[in-house]
Amino acid sequence: MQPKLITLTINGRTHQVALKPNVTLLHALRDLGYTDVKNGCEKGDCGACAVLLNGRAVNSCLVLAWQADGAEITTAAGLGTVDHPHPIQEALADSGGVQCGFCIPGIVVSAKALLDRNPNPTEEEIREAISGNLCRCTGYALIVEGIRRIIESKNQ
Ligand code: FES
Ligand code: FES
Repeated sequence: MQPKLITLTINGRTHQVALKPNVTLLHALRDLGYTDVKNGCEKGDCGACAVLLNGRAVNSCLVLAWQADGAEITTAAGLGTVDHPHPIQEALADSGGVQCGFCIPGIVVSAKALLDRNPNPTEEEIREAISGNLCRCTGYALIVEGIRRIIESKNQ
């Protein structure tokens, strides 16, 4: 099948790209330079490639780029940067929840989707929300602690 011209709006910037139907959103994003979206397993197991697709967290390795034609995509770097971190990124760094950092962009995306739909989640709900994000380093306790800090600071 021939490539098709599609439009992806990523972190507020519009891109028109010609892609074949079998190109995943993960590869499209990374090829466009959004390398904060990590390639872990390419089969939906690790969550490292998570992005917000029209506000919903998805594993971009399981979405075809054609399916995202016309959609709004937000990556972790679209939420905040080193100079202007999002409160979730700041809290994860402050809690020690960032070690090698490979899982963190996906965790930030999952946490953002959770807090958007439920601003006051329980610890169980936090753990459930990040259950699709594998972390080899932290044992999750410091990540959960970081997300809890955001909730506590909002409730003060
Ligand atoms: S790379 Fe997508 S879930 Fe692992
Ligand atoms: S901090 Fe290393 S994989 Fe999570």
